Amino acid sequence: MLKKIKIGVLISGSGTNMDAIITACEEKKINGEVVFAGSDSPAAKGLEKAAKKGIPTFVVDYATIIRDFRQSPESFLFPDDFDLEDIRIKQSIVSQMARTDEVIRFIETRAIAEARMLDNMKPYPFDLLILAGFMRNLTPYFIDRVNVTPGRPRIMNIHPALLPAFPGTDGYGETFRYGCKVGGCTVHFIDYGEDSGPIIGQKCFAITETDTLDTIRQKGLALEHQLYPECIQLFAEDRLATVTMTYTDDRGNLRQRNIVKIAQIH
Ligand code: GAR
Repeated sequence: MLKKIKIGVLISGSGTNMDAIITACEEKKINGEVVFAGSDSPAAKGLEKAAKKGIPTFVVDYATIIRDFRQSPESFLFPDDFDLEDIRIKQSIVSQMARTDEVIRFIETRAIAEARMLDNMKPYPFDLLILAGFMRNLTPYFIDRVNVTPGRPRIMNIHPALLPAFPGTDGYGETFRYGCKVGGCTVHFIDYGEDSGPIIGQKCFAITETDTLDTIRQKGLALEHQLYPECIQLFAEDRLATVTMTYTDDRGNLRQRNIVKIAQIH
């Protein structure tokens, strides 16, 4: 019998995915328990829901950190283990060629916020970290301190589109405005890019003439609430392996991509 996994959750908003995950744990559809809920915003409504369930919560107010840093960077201390160049070169959220003040400030402010998040998470050891509507990009500073075993990623994200289409912050909006005939959601492991990590699971729905952005969101969220617990349970059953696929692209160049293989139960 596999042990119950400990799940940390990060949210930015209403936290309906977090709710679905807590319920799936209670109903034993996930062999796990949520051990904390953190947010980048004090306004995240989901925090209250978690607190009501007796789950410890914390906030690292990113917006305030970013604003205050802009006004007086000298009043901030960087984490002892902060290495700007290491993060800049590893990340693929923005071009690796870019070394503008804006990029550097992005990395610096995020690493300060991320170090505070890691401090807040320390009292609650976890096996898996779930991003459930967490609307901040994580830098390699944070990712490397959570993914400590090579080849065993343990930060999952849910995205409101069929990746690799429509990464970013408005997946359903972009799906709708593009005139897509299907929409969907994706659960993937986090890597150093934006919504680019290995895909664990996807679900899709039909988009008809009568659909609006609102109905697309509703259809999508309903599927997210099924998909996320299913993917977390696969992790709990230790059935997710990340493997490197080597392939030749249409220009004949040899390329590699990390993909997830799901082990079957015999
Ligand atoms: C969900 O639709 C999720 O896919 C999306 O935010 C919503 C959060 O809803 N996430 C992203 O866009 C991440 N880039 P919730 O707070 O009710 O779970």
